[in-house]
Amino acid sequence: MSVVAVVPAAGSGQRLGAGEPKAFVPVGGVPMLVRAVDGLLASGVVDHVVVAAPAELVDRAGELLRGRPVTVLAGGADRTASVLCALGALHGVGDPNGVHTGDERPGPPVGDGSAVEVVLVHDAARPLTPPALVMAVVEAVRAGHRAVIPVLPVADTIKRVDEDGDVVATVDRSVLRAVQTPQGFAPELLLRAHRAAAAAGAAATDDAGLVEALGETVHAVPGDPAAMKVTTPWDHRLADHLVNDAVA
Ligand code: CTP
Ligand code: MG
Repeated sequence: MSVVAVVPAAGSGQRLGAGEPKAFVPVGGVPMLVRAVDGLLASGVVDHVVVAAPAELVDRAGELLRGRPVTVLAGGADRTASVLCALGALHGVGDPNGVHTGDERPGPPVGDGSAVEVVLVHDAARPLTPPALVMAVVEAVRAGHRAVIPVLPVADTIKRVDEDGDVVATVDRSVLRAVQTPQGFAPELLLRAHRAAAAAGAAATDDAGLVEALGETVHAVPGDPAAMKVTTPWDHRLADHLVNDAVA
C-alpha cells in the first residue's frame, strides 16, 4: 500500500513578484519545487509524487525533477483545480466518474488508486518542510485519522477589522491555529471532497477545507515553523537565510 504526494505548483506567485512562477524561484540556489519534492522523498515514506505545474512549464519541471519517482502534469486555474488535476493522474485519467477541470494534460497514470493508502497534498511553496513532519502526517493517517493537517498556534493577537479599518472585535486566539502542509488523507475521502467541490464550483485555500465541507472530521497534529509558506519577498529572504544558516 503506497503513499502518493500531490504537489500543487501551478501558481504564478503574484505576491512574491519574482518575475517567474513561484515554484521555479530558487531558495538557497535550488528551485522551491525541487526542495519540496526532495523533502517529501527524503521522508522515506512517500513512494510517488504528482506535480501540477503551470502548463507552459510542465517540461521544465520534468527536467528539474529528472531521476525521481515523479509525474508532472498541467495544473488548473486555482489551487483546488490544480490538486484535482493531479488526483486525476492518481485515480486514472480516463475514469468516467472523474471530474476534471482546468487545462488538464494527463501524465502517465500512477496506478490503481485503490492501492494507495495515503494521499498527501503539499505546497511547492513550502520548500523547507522537514521530512519528519511528512512522516508524522502519514503516521497519523495510518493510525486511523482520515484527514490530517499540521498546525501551529497563532502568536499575534488577532482582530476583526471592517472596511473602514475600524476594529470590530478581538478574536480569542487560543482556539485558533495556522494551517500548513503536507495534509494527509484517505484517498477515497480526498477524491470525494474534490469531486463535491468541483460539482458545486467551490474552491478552498486548503484541501482539508473541502473535507470539512462534507461534514467529515479533520484531525490536527503539531506543525513545524520550518514548513513556512513562501508567499512574500520577506518570506523568501527568510527562507534563503535559513538555508544559508543550515549550511554555514
Ligand atoms: N497553486 C497551484 N495552482 C494554482 C494556484 C496555486 O498549484 N492555480 C499552488 C502554488 O503553486 C503553491 C500553492 O498552490 O505551491 C499555494 O498557493 P500560493 O502560495 O497562493 O501560490 P501562488 O498562487 O503561486 O501565489 P499568489 O497567490 O501570490 O499568486
Ligand atoms: Mg495563490
